[in-house]
Amino acid sequence: MVIGGGGREHAIVKKLKENQSVTELYCLPGNGGIARDAICVGIAAVDLDGILAFAKENKIDYAVVAPDDPLALGAVDLLEKAGIPCFGPRKDAAVIEASKVFAKELMKRHGIPTARYETFDDMAAALAYLKTVPMPTVVKADGLALGKGVIIAQTLPEAEAAVRAMMADHRFGKSGERIVVEEFLEGPEISVLSFTDGKTIIPMISSMDHKRAGEGDTGLNTGGMGTVAPNPYYTPDVAQRCMEEIFLPTVRSMADEGRPFKGCLYFGLMLTKDGPKVIEYNCRFGDPETQVVLPLLKTDLLTVMQAVTEERLADCPVVFSDAASACVIMASQGYPGAYEKGYSITIPADLEAEVYVAGAKEKDGRLVTSGGRVLGVTAVAEDLPAALARAYEAVDRIHFDHAYFRRDIGKRALAAKEN
Ligand code: AMP
Ligand code: GLY
Repeated sequence: MVIGGGGREHAIVKKLKENQSVTELYCLPGNGGIARDAICVGIAAVDLDGILAFAKENKIDYAVVAPDDPLALGAVDLLEKAGIPCFGPRKDAAVIEASKVFAKELMKRHGIPTARYETFDDMAAALAYLKTVPMPTVVKADGLALGKGVIIAQTLPEAEAAVRAMMADHRFGKSGERIVVEEFLEGPEISVLSFTDGKTIIPMISSMDHKRAGEGDTGLNTGGMGTVAPNPYYTPDVAQRCMEEIFLPTVRSMADEGRPFKGCLYFGLMLTKDGPKVIEYNCRFGDPETQVVLPLLKTDLLTVMQAVTEERLADCPVVFSDAASACVIMASQGYPGAYEKGYSITIPADLEAEVYVAGAKEKDGRLVTSGGRVLGVTAVAEDLPAALARAYEAVDRIHFDHAYFRRDIGKRALAAKEN
């Protein structure tokens, strides 16, 4: 049973299906595209009672909880108590994503490199502090805010407006009652997903997200408009520093503090001139990072997940292909703002790419758009230029009205390679 219903979950479902022992696969709630690969059941990812009842009734052998909300609500704790083994952190470990204040303080306690910061639950104190820091500065809501709770303020008035929006106008609800104000860091970003059983950590292949809606990294922040893997900035040197200064200390400190993290721990890193620093932790697979990382995983995914659950990851080899992959997100025009939906999607049968469905539903036997991010089109090839060419070739043959996608996914990665 896979909990969730986006492109990430589609990629997880497709990978789990490669294991011959997976004979019955459910996705809650799934979507119109996932329904072609798993039995989708209309139970929301945050309906923990509904999920538990379904799991018991259907004698689920193994559960994968993919999104942040059910993890933060304690879905894994609940399922485990009912005797159902799970992939995903318990609530007390999911807090590493669910509270930015927790994450920042953890890093401070254990000397893990990150942006300098202060936390506030009092608006007057936050506003006074802003007057003392250089601009640009970064204002973050403490809690989960659908990736929108981060504001990079170029000027003092912008920073003050961000603090007021969070703390006085409650733009992010309870998530903004506490805030973090942190130093603005510069450098290329790297996403590293990892498997960890609380003791051992095995990083997956690195990737690069493209968070802004517009080409040339302009416009609003989105959930992610495309990804490539591997990330050329993640050299063996950087990887070793990350392992020593960030990955191992994070896993050890969580275990030492009595909240071992088991599942997929996601490191959002920035490669600054002083070395790699943590921008954020996520307690789950990234979306759309998963759509480029899992296609390169050669080891059976279920086998690795079960090794994590059973805390024997040290004995489980995890092997990635040395190919490259690229994922282009096809979104509804207007996303991340308002957009129209209900448009019919045409996907040719002979594409040389995987299509992971994020925001589409089945209507009269056809797939129609139903969300902001609609499809993730992933191609794998011997190198990044070939993977990108193949992904865009597929994108150009897929059709739905008012489709929007970036033409420049991978451009920065290609430029980095040439330097
Ligand atoms: P987060 O939700 O924390 O990942 O933040 C979203 C995006 O904001 C990140 O991917 C970065 O591009 C940017 N960001 C967050 N924190 C900082 C920072 N301290 N300095 C510069 N950019 C940041
Ligand atoms: N792609 C960024 C995330 O999953 O949070």
